[in-house]
Amino acid sequence: TKTDPTIFIIFGGTGDLNSRKIAPALYNLFLDGWMPKQFSIIGTGRTKLTDEQFRENLHNDINQFSRSGKADDKKWADFVKNIYYQVSDATDAETYKEFGKRIDKHNAEWKTKANVLFYLAVAPNFFPIIASNISKAKLAEDKKRVRIIIEKPFGHDLETAKELNQLLSSIFDECQIYRIDHYLGKETVQNIMAFRFANSIMEPLWNRNYIEHVQISVTEQLGVEERGDYYDGSGAMRDMIQNHLLQLLCHIAMEPPVSFSADEVRDRKVDVLKAMRRFTPEDVRNSAVRGQYGSGWMKGKEVPGYREEPKVNPESNTETFAAIKFFVDNWRWQGVPFYLRTGKRMHQSSSVITIQFKDVPHLIFPTEAAESWQQNRLIISIQPEMSIRLQVQAKRPGIDMVLNVVDMVFDYKGTYTNQAPEAYETLILDTMMGDQTLFMRGDQVEAAWDLVMPILSTWQNKKSLNFPNYSADSWGPEAAEALIARDGFNWFTLP
Ligand code: BG6
Repeated sequence: TKTDPTIFIIFGGTGDLNSRKIAPALYNLFLDGWMPKQFSIIGTGRTKLTDEQFRENLHNDINQFSRSGKADDKKWADFVKNIYYQVSDATDAETYKEFGKRIDKHNAEWKTKANVLFYLAVAPNFFPIIASNISKAKLAEDKKRVRIIIEKPFGHDLETAKELNQLLSSIFDECQIYRIDHYLGKETVQNIMAFRFANSIMEPLWNRNYIEHVQISVTEQLGVEERGDYYDGSGAMRDMIQNHLLQLLCHIAMEPPVSFSADEVRDRKVDVLKAMRRFTPEDVRNSAVRGQYGSGWMKGKEVPGYREEPKVNPESNTETFAAIKFFVDNWRWQGVPFYLRTGKRMHQSSSVITIQFKDVPHLIFPTEAAESWQQNRLIISIQPEMSIRLQVQAKRPGIDMVLNVVDMVFDYKGTYTNQAPEAYETLILDTMMGDQTLFMRGDQVEAAWDLVMPILSTWQNKKSLNFPNYSADSWGPEAAEALIARDGFNWFTLP
């Protein structure tokens, strides 16, 4: 493999993220031969556990959550030898000496200097103290080998994001900091750049001359589940739009990078965020819709409204849905609306990007010939369906000239037999290899916060009076339909 000896120290070792995502990803990387010969995974947390107990827990997690299914006994035995547990109080600087000792021990055993990856899979209030303690224990000094991986949310607003960036950059160089936005690791999201920049037929059409509007829709059937605690202080705008949806938008709107190098790609994305039109309070009223789900029925089961969810304020004004019309003010995109929407407890779980092209300049066929006239659309389906379809008009076979819409489809299922890796596998491998292309740079995060702040503060100053305003298993509030209908369009959904 191309990876150097590596020591992972996972804060939040007993947490949900490690159980569901990180540990299964590491295991699958191991199965696929990506892990270095010498590696060690040290989970850490306040819970008192022995190595044996921790290993047993991860074994159960992997059996339950790994894409490769139940762990094979022999493979598991080989993998588990590299797993350890260290009880720690992350706020106590003394604890970090233990990590130092473990790192020294591995280095001595392996007769090398291993990469050390500190993975902060903990609540954001712990980010600063953990980073400072790593520094105090002098564990951050090797700029080449030590890296820090930070989960979301990165800041609660622009100010706190800046503070966190400042603190991190007082300890680490930017090339050591890996800010995760797991959408960037998704196979279908990575493919957007391949599709745009490895084909010559897209680029000539990819601009305001041919594209009428763009939709980015990420809907989920899930409610807030057990996360009321975090979510009630966050909401759809902070939880999804500021990061995942704006990153998808950047993939669609960015200029062609000169190369696939981390900074070149990230520079082009920052350009997009900087070019996006800022909102006045009036724009917020006209172009941003928020919603909160009420109770309803999903898949034959009655589900509570957001305000009835555990750990949610019964009078909460937090939005569980947002739909926003953005503009990118540059030569390529002037005047092309980008409609973004996301919500919980929606009718469908699907993430889809729709690019609608302009109409033909002149219709030569009689209108009766066009049974279901529709402008060309390119539909990039990120999940659960993984596909790209181009909708075109075609002549229906028959004596007379009748047109209807057909799909030209590339779908992963029909094209590839191998299972796509999970986002976390790609991202964790990149942290080992030192490739930051799919990670958020400090200025990128700040640019995204800068864009959404006026919307957040306008919303905060004016409580929404009509919450809940959509019921579970719907497509969100009516105002979101109106937002796009006013411009003569409607939200696209896959059947
Ligand atoms: C997370 C959000 O970042 O992304 C969650 O905090 C959301 O609220 C999740 O459910 C969606 O991710 P995915 O990969 O399931 O689309």
